[in-house]
Amino acid sequence: MSKSLIVYGSTTGNTETAAEYALEGLKSKGIDVELKNVTEVEISELSNGYDLVLFGCSTWGEDEIELQDDFIPLYESLEEADLKGKKVSVFGCGDSDYTYFCGAVDAIEEKLEKMGAIVVNDTLKIDGDPDRTEITQWAAELAEKI
Ligand SMILES: Cc1cc2nc3c(=O)[nH]c(=O)nc-3n(C[C@H](O)[C@H](O)[C@H](O)COP(=O)(O)O)c2cc1C
Repeated sequence: MSKSLIVYGSTTGNTETAAEYALEGLKSKGIDVELKNVTEVEISELSNGYDLVLFGCSTWGEDEIELQDDFIPLYESLEEADLKGKKVSVFGCGDSDYTYFCGAVDAIEEKLEKMGAIVVNDTLKIDGDPDRTEITQWAAELAEKI
C-alpha cells in the first residue's frame, strides 16, 4: 500500500478542513495517509519512506506573500529535507480578492521544484470555504499518480 503524509498549516481552520478532505480522497483510493499539523512535524520526517508528501498552507499578508505563521519555520528549513526525486503536491486556502491569490502555494511549489522534488499534479488553490467534492476529487486524481 502506498503511504502518504499531509502536512498543513492553518490559522482559522480552512486549510485544516481542506487537508481532512484530501485525506478522505486519498483514502478512498486505498492510500495509507497520515495527517499532521505542521507544528507537530520534524523536517527529517518528510523523507520517512512516504511515496507522496502533500503540503497545505494558507496565504497571509497584504502587499507581499506571507505563508501561514506556523508553516514559516518548515518552509525556511525545507532544503534540509531529502526530497530530491520525491513525489509532492501542494494545496492551500486563500481569497481571490487579494493580489497574490494563494501565493503561499506558488512559493512552496517553486521551492520544492528547485529542490528537485517532483510536483505530481496541478496545485489546488481554494478560494473561500473548502469544498468537499472539489478537494476529495482532486486528491483521488492525485492518488492515481503515485
Ligand atoms: C490579513 C489577511 C491577509 C490575507 N492575505 C491573503 C493573500 O495575500 N492571498 C490570499 O490568497 N489570501 C489571503 N488571505 C485570506 C486567507 O488566506 C483565507 O482566509 C484562508 O482561508 C485562511 O486559511 P486558514 O484558515 O487555513 O489559515 C488573507 C486573510 C487575511 C485576514
